[in-house]
Amino acid sequence: MKLAVVGGGSTYTPELIDGFARLRGELPLSEIALVDPDEHRLATVAGMARRMLARAGHPAALTTATRVEDGVAGAAAVLLQLRVGGQAARNVDETLPLECGCVGQETTGAGGLAKALRTVPVVLDIAEKVRAHAPGAWIVDFTNPVGIVTRALLGAGHRAIGLCNVAIGFQRRFAALLGVTPERIALGHAGLNHLTWERSVLLDGVDVLPRLLDEHGEAIAESVGVPVELVRHLRAVPSYYLRYFYEHDRVVAEQRTSPSRAAEVAAMESALLEMYADPAVDTKPDLLNRRGGAFYSEAAVALVASLMGDRGDVQVVNTRNDGTLPFLDDDAVIEVPATVGAAGAVPLPVDPLEPLYRGLIAHVSAYESLALEAALRGGEDRFRDALLAHPLVGQASLADDLAARLVEANRAFLPWA
Ligand code: G6P
Ligand code: MN
Repeated sequence: MKLAVVGGGSTYTPELIDGFARLRGELPLSEIALVDPDEHRLATVAGMARRMLARAGHPAALTTATRVEDGVAGAAAVLLQLRVGGQAARNVDETLPLECGCVGQETTGAGGLAKALRTVPVVLDIAEKVRAHAPGAWIVDFTNPVGIVTRALLGAGHRAIGLCNVAIGFQRRFAALLGVTPERIALGHAGLNHLTWERSVLLDGVDVLPRLLDEHGEAIAESVGVPVELVRHLRAVPSYYLRYFYEHDRVVAEQRTSPSRAAEVAAMESALLEMYADPAVDTKPDLLNRRGGAFYSEAAVALVASLMGDRGDVQVVNTRNDGTLPFLDDDAVIEVPATVGAAGAVPLPVDPLEPLYRGLIAHVSAYESLALEAALRGGEDRFRDALLAHPLVGQASLADDLAARLVEANRAFLPWA
């Protein structure tokens, strides 16, 4: 089976290769195609990937292509992990909103909207090439903002599923705290991508969340960056991204006096690329573990293996709502546990969401629909409308100001601007 990775020149690729090598019994691959427009970076990362596969004795051929058409041809699955504009554009997403008193983040708030507008047209163009050259292939989208990008892909009729490592990260962390294997843990995970809560944690079918919060509340709260009192009060674990809502002003104050994540990541990327260029390096460097993508290779392997092998197991994915959360549009994309087989993902029923979560989810989902509209049709007025609808912006003058500044800063990536 051939698998293609678009954005294959990413410094994250060795994380994926490491997963493919470790989990080859689960997902037998005969070819891994790395696709990236940056020839130099592609060659460096491909060299590293080939050494890793050779060391692991993995039989897959590692091929490269700069054109999507060539790289995806004949693939059964295509992973998207690209970043339009690289860390430089991300740096704008993370710093410009701060000037207006808003959180600077690449997926949440105004920065996430700018990222969506840069990314959606590029991803849709790639997906058309997949449709033409790899008909029937599944598209697994890691490209952020995953909720909006997946909604765009599904809206255009592609066979797509969105994936994020937040849920698998919780599953692994809770398993470690309980001293059990991760397969025994099932999460009551619900919401939208980067806007989720763990409302139950089943160990062999029994909810152990109350016990986890009693015994490990401090550690859990610290890992998601919110006060332990909040977690204990909610009796649920918000994802790390809820911090940008629950602790908004505190985060803004912190961000104003510290380097952006984009700047940190850019420095890590230079160091990683130097290691990947060293012919003596053939294992995933420890430095890669300082990136946010822990376990994402495992999530990818599990998802592709279930799509290809019709396994029918339960995984947390981003997929069409279709009534699962009855207060959202059918075509909204939600992040929930779903049964995954050859026909795709079918969400499991979700216990009715408490108003405390439901309101925020509905609010952000409405924003996402306007963000997609702006990404597809362009226009500063649509950009502003999406910001007006965002719970972290909302005020008219702020939305006007941010729209004007972000459109200006992203002009090179917006064909209509
Ligand atoms: C987590 C999120 C991803 C995001 C990543 C950023 O893994 O789930 O959606 O891309 O963090 O990591 P970075 O190292 O680039 O800050
Ligand atoms: Mn994510």
